Amino acid sequence: MITAISAPNIAFIKYWGNRDNELRIPQADSLSMTLNTPTVEIDVEHSEILSVKSFELDGSEKELGEKHIQRFRKHLELTKHYLNKLGVPDAIPNEVSITVRSGIPSGIGLASSAAVFSCLACAYQGLIRETIDLDDEQSSVIARLGSGSASRSIFGGFSALVAGEGSGIDSSKSIQIADENHWPLHDIVLAPSMHEKKVGSTEGHAIAQTSPHFADRIEAITSRRQQECIDSILKKDFEKLQRVTEEDCMDMHHVMETSTPPLKYLNDVTHRIISEVTDLRTSQHLPVLYTMDAGPTVHLVCTEEARDRVVDFAHAQADCTVFETKVGKGTHLV
Ligand code: DP6
Repeated sequence: MITAISAPNIAFIKYWGNRDNELRIPQADSLSMTLNTPTVEIDVEHSEILSVKSFELDGSEKELGEKHIQRFRKHLELTKHYLNKLGVPDAIPNEVSITVRSGIPSGIGLASSAAVFSCLACAYQGLIRETIDLDDEQSSVIARLGSGSASRSIFGGFSALVAGEGSGIDSSKSIQIADENHWPLHDIVLAPSMHEKKVGSTEGHAIAQTSPHFADRIEAITSRRQQECIDSILKKDFEKLQRVTEEDCMDMHHVMETSTPPLKYLNDVTHRIISEVTDLRTSQHLPVLYTMDAGPTVHLVCTEEARDRVVDFAHAQADCTVFETKVGKGTHLV
C-alpha cells in the first residue's frame, strides 16, 4: 500500500475554461501558491474492483455519490491512457482501492478536489515506481486529468499550470516557479458559508466560453498577466502581486457572471470583506491582497509582517469561519 499527502492551493492567476473539457486542458496558463493545510491523505493499493472510500478527520465515513465514484474511474482510465503514451500501459492495475482521509470541508472555496487529485497522482506515482520513475511534471499531468488546479499542488511554493499547445493528453503540465522557502506568504481564509456550492467548477469551465468577455480575459493572461505574476513572485514585489491577482480574480468573476447561464459565486459578505480589507490596507499600509475562487470564500494573502493584523481582522468577522494557512511544500509520499 502507498500513502500520499497533499493540500489545496490558492490561485493568483485563475484557471477558468478549457480547450478540452474531457482532458482538462486549460485555455490559458494559471499560477498559484500551494498551502500547507488543511491536508488530504490517500492510500492506494491493488484490488479486484475499483473501490473508493472517503473519511472525515474524525474517522466518520463520507457517503460518496455515483458521480464522485465515476470521476475516480474516469481519472484512472485517463491515467492509463497517459501511461500508454509513455510506453508502460500495464504499469497501473485495472482496478485499485482508494482510501481518502480529508481534513477539508468540501464546497466552501478551499479547493478540495485540487488536494485530492494531486494526492492521488502522487500515490499512483509511488504505486508504479518500480515500472516507471515519473518526475513531478509527469505527475502534474496525472493530477490535471482529475482536476485542473490539482496539477499545481504537486509542487510546493509557487507553481504554474502551463496551458501548452495542441491536443495531446500531456500537452499541458505544471512547473514550479519558486519553492516554499522563497517567500513566506500566509493565506488567511474567510468562509462565509459552509454550504456546498450549487455549480461546481467542472460545469463552470464548460460554459466559460459563452461569456462575451472570455476571449479578452485569455488574451490578457497570455499577453501580460501570467508573466507579471511570475515576475512579482520572483522579485517578492507584493504590491505588483496584489494588483495582478485582484485584477485577474475580478476579471474571472466578471466572466462567470456574464456566462450563460450566469454564475454568481460572490455574495454580500464577500463584498463587505473586500471593502473592509481594502480600507484596512490603505489605513495601515498592510501588505494584504484578496482573491476568491468559485465560491464566496475570501482568501487574504499577506506577508509575515501583516499576518497578525490580518488574523485579528479575520476573527472579528462574526459570520465567517476562519482557516489560517501559509505556503506549503506540495504533495509527497508519507
Ligand atoms: C476558480 O480545478 O476546481 O478555483 O478541473 O473541474 O476540478 P476541475 O476544476 P478546478 O477549477 C479551479 C477553478 C478556480 C481557479 C483556480 O484554482 O485556478
